[in-house]
Amino acid sequence: METLLIIDFGSQYNQLIARRVRESKVFCEIVPPSISVKEILSKSVKGLILSGGPASVYKKNSPKLNSEFLKLGIPVLGICYGMQALTHLLGGHVRRARDREYGRAELHLSEASGPFFRGIPKKSVSWMSHGDYVSKMPEGFRKIAYTQSTHVAAFENPSRRIYGVQFHPEVKHSEHGSVIIRNFLFNICGFKRSWTMKNFINETSRKVRSQVGGSKVILGLSGGVDSSVTAALLSRALGRKLVCIFVNNGLLRKNEEADVRRLFRGHFKVDLRVVNAEKIFLNKLKGVTDPEKKRKIIGHEFIWAFQREAQKIRGACYLAQGTLYPDVIESRSAFGGPTAVIKSHHNVGGLPEKMHLKLVEPLRELFKDEARQLGRVLGLPENVVGRHPFPGPGLAVRILGEVTRERLNILREADIRFIEEIKKSGLYDKIWQAFAVLLPIKSVGVMGDERTYENVVALRAVTSVDGMTADWFHFPKEVLGKISNRIINEVKGVNRVVYDISSKPPATIEWE
Ligand code: XMP
Repeated sequence: METLLIIDFGSQYNQLIARRVRESKVFCEIVPPSISVKEILSKSVKGLILSGGPASVYKKNSPKLNSEFLKLGIPVLGICYGMQALTHLLGGHVRRARDREYGRAELHLSEASGPFFRGIPKKSVSWMSHGDYVSKMPEGFRKIAYTQSTHVAAFENPSRRIYGVQFHPEVKHSEHGSVIIRNFLFNICGFKRSWTMKNFINETSRKVRSQVGGSKVILGLSGGVDSSVTAALLSRALGRKLVCIFVNNGLLRKNEEADVRRLFRGHFKVDLRVVNAEKIFLNKLKGVTDPEKKRKIIGHEFIWAFQREAQKIRGACYLAQGTLYPDVIESRSAFGGPTAVIKSHHNVGGLPEKMHLKLVEPLRELFKDEARQLGRVLGLPENVVGRHPFPGPGLAVRILGEVTRERLNILREADIRFIEEIKKSGLYDKIWQAFAVLLPIKSVGVMGDERTYENVVALRAVTSVDGMTADWFHFPKEVLGKISNRIINEVKGVNRVVYDISSKPPATIEWE
């Protein structure tokens, strides 16, 4: 597949560059500067983007640009540090600016614009973030843009197809940034728009089939987005050679097991093994109130339950995981080799080594929204691909205090009503995560003529981009009123509903 490589010099914007490229239907990968020429040649690379980064090219330990890359005849675009690295390598000069330039800057094009700046007005807004600048261009280069404080804001050597920009075209604040990136991809590198979900499915299926040969592949299916999309994709690629294990730990939401069975066994015809481990988990959790202890027990028991089932599957040499691209790049250092640390999904960490299984990670090149899009193309229903995240330890961390069957049932009934009402009001997709929490206290109420002494349910709904920070969701008060009425009237054992209005930080999204 035609590929663009982003050489990672440590910029916080690297994933954004990748997003912009992929939105243009061009496949790209982020690779460390230590990548070998041989590896570049083994991929069908039609363009290189050198990313920005926090270092200074004239410092001893700064990441270096391998001069061999420029001899390959592949078009190159250097962004910020990438432009400075080009300058340094090709005999130009880079200097420390007296003041860092940060934020908006008016970009002026200085030449009759060629294919690189096609469609960009003479004056536009660009986004700068740099402390060094190009004080002398390498030989054979000419200036094509400037700002008030940056003499060379962009340069080019069209015959060698090498370009550099001091600003960041990948950030939205750069008014015509996406056009500049597209110009590079299509006018300079000559990419075709071939990165489509259909191509991805065909290519990945082919790769997975040749990777696993006649062996079986085991997948831990949780019902969440990542593992569901992985299951749908692998089921299409491998048919019955894929075996999914779904562990019901008794800490799931209402109807979850039945939904997973219906979808994967019924619709996708997957070889699905359901492990009913409810009793084991609840026994181990008896009397446990400490959140960390709960998590440890659940993680440990999960591995046991999963392993017991997996050992029954003959001829399995592979374990599939729904690792996504951000998991891969976040876990390797900016300047180090591609030593991707594998993120443990749903507490299966350590399992591949223990069971001598090799990993299959068909989504490791995708961002979350691409995985969702893939799921849709594969025929997963909207209520699966658009699902809110659900923690591995499940409802156990949403029941404060001891987890019992009775309390689980109360929480399930409250939670499903909360979610139903959110969906009815059309707000589900505006919320990152919404759920009910059962508090370890009782409060007094009246029902009819009787005094009651029952449970309190807290509702939590937050907006967030990545789960790292979050704000509480501002519900219309009629919606909150309806939810509270339904829960109190319909769920036996609850007489009070409260709404959590804490942000993260300082609170977390989950209560435990
Ligand atoms: P917190 O509560 O830390 O949660 O603000 C951030 C996000 O992570 C999810 N979460 C977990 N997911 N295993 C998981 O798979 C866990 O132990 C776990 N704890 C929290 C949480 O639901 C939220 O999306």
